[in-house]
Amino acid sequence: MQNPIIVALDVPTMDAALKLAEQLAPAVGAFKIGKELFTACGPEIVRRVRATGASVFLDLKFHDIPNTVAKAVESAVRLDVQMLTIHASGGSAMMAAAEKAAQETASRSGRNAPLVLGVTVLTSMDAHDLAETGVTATPAQQVERLASLAAKAGLRGLVCSPLEIARLREILPASVQLVTPGIRPADAEKGDQKRTLTPKEAMQAGASWLVIGRPICAAENPRAAAEKILESLR
Ligand code: C5P
Repeated sequence: MQNPIIVALDVPTMDAALKLAEQLAPAVGAFKIGKELFTACGPEIVRRVRATGASVFLDLKFHDIPNTVAKAVESAVRLDVQMLTIHASGGSAMMAAAEKAAQETASRSGRNAPLVLGVTVLTSMDAHDLAETGVTATPAQQVERLASLAAKAGLRGLVCSPLEIARLREILPASVQLVTPGIRPADAEKGDQKRTLTPKEAMQAGASWLVIGRPICAAENPRAAAEKILESLR
C-alpha cells in the first residue's frame, strides 16, 4: 500500500512548516501547502518541502479563464508539485486546459504529470448559499454534476468530503482518485469539522488519499500521531 496520508501544513511560517515537514517526511505520503503558507512564503516553501524528499500537494484552488489557469498549472509543474487543485465550477474548458498544461509541461520537463484535482462544492456552502449564487441544485446534486463534468473534461482526481466518497465511487470511473479531508481518528478532537470519517472508514469507502491537519500537526508528537494513523490502516 502506498502511504495515503497527506499532512496539511496549515501554519503561517516557513520555520513552522519545515519543522513539521522534516519530522514527518518519512512517515507520510505528501504535504499539502495551502493559501496561508504559500501566500506567506512564496514558491520557496514548495522547494524546501520538496527538498525533504516528500511529495507536495499545492492547494491553491485555481479558478480563472482557461489560459490563465493553464499558465498557473505550468508554473506549478515547473515547481515540481505532485498534486494541485482547481475549481470544477470554472467549467470544462478550464479543466481541460489545466489537465493539458499539466501533461504537456511535465512531459517537456521529463516528469510525471501532477494529479490535477477538481474541487466541486465547498463544504462550507449549504443549499441557501448555493441558491444565492444562482445554483438551484442541492449541494449533493451539484457535487455529482461537477464531479461528472470534471471526469469528462479529463481530470484524474477530485477533492471530496468523506460523506461524498461512496456516491462518487458509484458514478465515476474507478481510475479517478479521491482526495478526502474531514478525517478524524476515533480518539481525536473534531474541531470545526462536523461530518467526519475515521481514516480506515474513509479508505474503506473508496478514498485514495486522506488530508489530515490538526490531528497530526497539533499532536504532542506529530510523528507518532502519523504512525498511529498509518498503523490503523493496515
Ligand atoms: O486540521 P484538519 O484535519 O481539519 O485540516 C483539513 C485540511 O483540509 C485543511 O487544510 C482544510 O482547509 C482542508 N479542507 C477541509 N474541508 C474541505 C476542503 C479542504 O477541511 N472541504
